[in-house]
Amino acid sequence: MSGKQSEQMAQSDLYSRAEKAAHTIRARTTAQARIAIVLGSGLGGFAEEFADSVSIPYQQIPGFVTSTAVGHAGRLVCGKVEQVPVIAMQGRVHYYEGYSLEQVTFPIRTFKLLGVETLILTNAAGGIDVQLTQGALMVISDHLNLMGVNPLRGPNDERFGPRFPDMSEVYSRELQELVIEEARGLGVPVRRGIYAALAGPSYETPAEIHMLRATGADAVGMSTVPEAIVARQMGMKILGISCITNMAAGISENPINHEEVMETGQRVRATLTQLLRRLIARMPG
Ligand code: HPA
Repeated sequence: MSGKQSEQMAQSDLYSRAEKAAHTIRARTTAQARIAIVLGSGLGGFAEEFADSVSIPYQQIPGFVTSTAVGHAGRLVCGKVEQVPVIAMQGRVHYYEGYSLEQVTFPIRTFKLLGVETLILTNAAGGIDVQLTQGALMVISDHLNLMGVNPLRGPNDERFGPRFPDMSEVYSRELQELVIEEARGLGVPVRRGIYAALAGPSYETPAEIHMLRATGADAVGMSTVPEAIVARQMGMKILGISCITNMAAGISENPINHEEVMETGQRVRATLTQLLRRLIARMPG
């Protein structure tokens, strides 16, 4: 086989693997969700509230890998929120777990083939901007990919999208506005900001946070950006919401620990859930 032929094999592979995963999910549910939600650390509980829900453990979906991180359940939950059909990832997989970004973003590819048009990405993040204190919510206006890798590296399958996708508006401005408006209605303080993604899993040093602040980052985390890049390439509308679970290293004196991240996630969950309900009810499609 020539180099070109084997490249084409690899291309059709990702697409057909995503088709297979989509087929498995379709066989288990009847709902036609146009909205998918990725629930980050400590935020997975939202999926427990879905009406008429069907849960599918990732192990039962070909191509999906399982989350090894504490606080990530590892199943897909299909159901309804305010009568709107949605699919949620209760727990995501991360690059730091050792998976490739193709594996990390495989569910997003699958969602596209299932007909999902809008992707809501949530995460736990450290606050760099001093206004972003523990428990605050930030709408992602843009990102800095500092993971050192890009999920689109490697052969490109045009059926998913272009080789060199434009990234000048990854996060839908319209959806950002919608969040700000709905949050105001609920009396929940939300501000826009730039999310920087690092590979992890160690938290940052104060010097790294100092550098990130100088580059314009408002919050820092270890996820979301790969999913957003892939979703954007496929033409999805994206909304990103960070739950600030701690102040970043050196911003506060306190050391950062995963338990605190999880606890804050859970504490903010009720507010975020309320906000998500209202957003989903108002989203087109
Ligand atoms: N840094 C990176 N990722 C995080 C943090 C942090 O401070 N908090 C939650 N996720």
